[in-house]
Amino acid sequence: MHIIKLDAIDSTNSFLKEMIYAQEVADYTIVVAQHQTNGRGQMGTTWDSDRGKNLMFSMFKDLSAYVVEFPFYISMAVSLAIFKTLKALCIPHLSIKWPNDILSADKKICGILIENVIKNKLNSTVIGIGVNVNQTEFKNLPKASSLKNITGMHYDLDEILQTIIKHTKAYSLLLQQGNHEVVKNEYEANLFRKNKPSTFKNAKGDLFSGFIIGVTKYGKLQVLLEDEIVKKYDLKEITLMY
Ligand code: BTN
Repeated sequence: MHIIKLDAIDSTNSFLKEMIYAQEVADYTIVVAQHQTNGRGQMGTTWDSDRGKNLMFSMFKDLSAYVVEFPFYISMAVSLAIFKTLKALCIPHLSIKWPNDILSADKKICGILIENVIKNKLNSTVIGIGVNVNQTEFKNLPKASSLKNITGMHYDLDEILQTIIKHTKAYSLLLQQGNHEVVKNEYEANLFRKNKPSTFKNAKGDLFSGFIIGVTKYGKLQVLLEDEIVKKYDLKEITLMY
C-alpha cells in the first residue's frame, strides 16, 4: 500500500484521478492532505475543512475483478468500513444516511465522494473520504459535527486513516468472495431512519412521506409510500428531509 502525504492540494480526488490517467496506479494507493483548496462534495457541492484538523483522503480501487456491474456495493463497503472504525472509537448513535453520509445522531461527521474512472476500457474508482475529526466550529453548517465535538476527545488522524483502510480491504474482500448480500444486509441494518416515518422532497420540491425500507443493488433508495407501494429513487430524485 502506497500513501502519498500532501500538505495542500486542490482536491485529493482530483489529484488521484490525474495520477491514474498519467501512470499505472496500484490498488489502495492513498492520497491524504492536510488542506484542500477546492475540496469537492457530492452533487457539485464543496467540502471545506480547517487545515490539519480533519481527515481528507482519496483511495484508488480497481473494480475490474468484481463489482463493475454494481458499483454501489463499493459505496456500501466503504460506508461500513468507516462506520466500523467510528464504532470502535465509541462514537454514539452512528448511522449511514443514504447513499453514504455517516451520521452521529442526526449530525454529519463524514462524507464520501466516489468517482468512477475509465482508463484503457478498465473500470476503477476513486473513493474520496472526509471525516470531521478535531474541528470544533462549523460555521453555516448546522447539521455538521466532528468526533471531537461529540466526545470531547482529540483523535489521531493517522490511526483513523489506517483503520478505515484496514476495514475497507476486509469489506472489499467480502465482495470479491461473492458475499454481496452480507455487505448489503449490514449496510441496510445501519441505514438512517430505516423503517421510521420520514418526509422526503421530490425533484419538483413537493413533500411526501414514507418509510425507508432498503436499497436496490443499483443503489436506489426503496421507500414504502402511504398507499403501500414501494418506489425506488435515485439521488437526483429525492431528498430526505427528516
Ligand atoms: C459529501 O458528503 O458531499 C462528500 C464529501 C467528500 C469529501 C472528501 S475530502 C477528500 C476527498 N477529496 C475531495 O475533493 N472530496 C473528498
